[in-house]
Amino acid sequence: MYRSHSCGELRASHMNTEVTLAGWVQKTRDKGFIIWVDLRDRYGITQLIFDAERTPAQVVEKAKTLGREFVIQVKGHVIERESKNTNIPTGDIEILVTELTILNEAIVPPFTIENETDGGEDLRMKYRYLDIRRNPVKNNLIFRHQVTMQVRQYLSDKNFIEVETPYLIKSTPEGARDFVVPSRMNEGQFYALPQSPQTFKQLLMVGGMDKYFQIVKCFRDEDLRADRQPEFTQIDCEMAFVTQEDVLTVFEGLTRHLLKEIKNVDCDEFPRITYAEAMQTYGNDKPDIRFGMKFGELNKVTQHKDFKVFNDAELVVGIAVPGGASYTRKEIDKLIEWVKRPQVGALGMVYVKCNDDGSYKSSVDKFYNQEDLAQWAKVTKAQTGDLICILSGQKNKVRAQLSALRMELADRLGLRNPEEFAPLWVVDFPLLEWDDETERYHAMHHPFTSPKPEDITLLNSKPGEVRANAYDLVLNGNEIGGGSIRIHDTATQALMFDYLGFTPDEAKAQFGFLMDAFQYGAPPHGGIAFGLDRLVAILGGQETIRDFIAFPKNNNGRDVMIDAPAAIDNDQLKELHIQLDL
Ligand code: AMO
Repeated sequence: MYRSHSCGELRASHMNTEVTLAGWVQKTRDKGFIIWVDLRDRYGITQLIFDAERTPAQVVEKAKTLGREFVIQVKGHVIERESKNTNIPTGDIEILVTELTILNEAIVPPFTIENETDGGEDLRMKYRYLDIRRNPVKNNLIFRHQVTMQVRQYLSDKNFIEVETPYLIKSTPEGARDFVVPSRMNEGQFYALPQSPQTFKQLLMVGGMDKYFQIVKCFRDEDLRADRQPEFTQIDCEMAFVTQEDVLTVFEGLTRHLLKEIKNVDCDEFPRITYAEAMQTYGNDKPDIRFGMKFGELNKVTQHKDFKVFNDAELVVGIAVPGGASYTRKEIDKLIEWVKRPQVGALGMVYVKCNDDGSYKSSVDKFYNQEDLAQWAKVTKAQTGDLICILSGQKNKVRAQLSALRMELADRLGLRNPEEFAPLWVVDFPLLEWDDETERYHAMHHPFTSPKPEDITLLNSKPGEVRANAYDLVLNGNEIGGGSIRIHDTATQALMFDYLGFTPDEAKAQFGFLMDAFQYGAPPHGGIAFGLDRLVAILGGQETIRDFIAFPKNNNGRDVMIDAPAAIDNDQLKELHIQLDL
């Protein structure tokens, strides 16, 4: 038996018990006649005491050789600690050691294994297994496990069946690039790793599975950000014989359950807004609604004077920043610099201070009088003491820029409290999205998403206005899930492929299996996929998903620990029928 108890378990009630513990040496303090060792495992830290008077001499000698992160086993009994440590649950006791076995020695770790470490991100990623010994990382992984267990339990109780779908497949159309795997047995051919199990879950519905879920790895070769990894995990779900309302109800239920079980947060019915409303009010299809600063469109009240910038703009739009009237000139200049950074890309910013005496002071006083500015304050719902920030230009660009400013200011003002949870559904996404690069429409969600029946007639005349039965679940300004009601008949699916520029042959080559399946009695169906990493990170009060993944990739898509991706040797390349032309 390696251990009778864990290092987080022993209390005053265990006094005088004989115990065996095993773990890692966190710290040793050698006072000559007494040595203290902090012994750590997943469950906590227990103090060991080697006492020249009470511990056998050879054991004390051995204890003197212990270094950080040595793996040891000790036998001893629980005694009361002279100076108690109220910071840890085991702080009332210590173990008077009688036997010590060094199970494994350790070289000095490259950073300290403590809550606050001296190791930088790169170093911690290279030695991720040591990083995982630290509480913040360890606790995040345990937290992820708890969320995952709750998800499985909830869905299973609701009659969903977890089914595994293959990883070696053909390209899936989620809009990112595929990771591909060469086939040794099929010269010149490649598998693609799934960007999601989308087509398979639809085939499971044709197969009559009715309610499916899977906690599943997905692979997307796309540029990385704090909330994106090249391999990430979805809670992927699909249901047959459902309307959009049914899907929203079930997965609002799941989200509410998680918020209650994991965070003890009760939520009212989730608000729903349309994509169009979200863009107009927040400039963003994943709005953070924990705070206000809603957009006020100012075209009508700004475009009647000689200010050319506004007169020429497709959109003039502003937000009221609470308390911003007290910003100094320097602070405002800095804010203007901020919106002009290439990452945001605004050309400039007009501002209005709403002074305490009810007057207004703006950067465009030359063009607008007090009545004009009062109108702007009304539209942006600015109060006395606020600062109105106004951007103008091309509609989509300006919305994105003001949205970035809104989020930045909310961060600075501490309005994004990680312990407050504001979920909402964004519904009625457009079916198609214009792509300037390829100069054609693309499916905004994916090509299996069904159009709203009442909008189908617009497909020819105004394709950009056709709405889809598609929805996203947004939590605290993050898209944590997205889904749709699918097309389930061959004719509509063929029409969609045609619209998206697939020739019938191309559609058949890529998705023939799905079109075939639809001919054998496909039920109406729809579903959703949650980004598990994002969901866990946000529930954990953070937005960087890397911190909740055991072995994440860095921003260049590299695993610096195992040093992947890496070259492979010529024999392996040959076997795969690949010739590199470097
Ligand atoms: P979608 O592409 O919206 O939908 O993905 C669903 C959710 O997955 C998460 N997500 C990611 N998380 C981390 N890193 C990434 N690179 C990444 N990409 C996406 C997001 C997103 O909301 N098959 C459809 C779902 C459906 O229609 O049922 C799909 O994959 O949280």
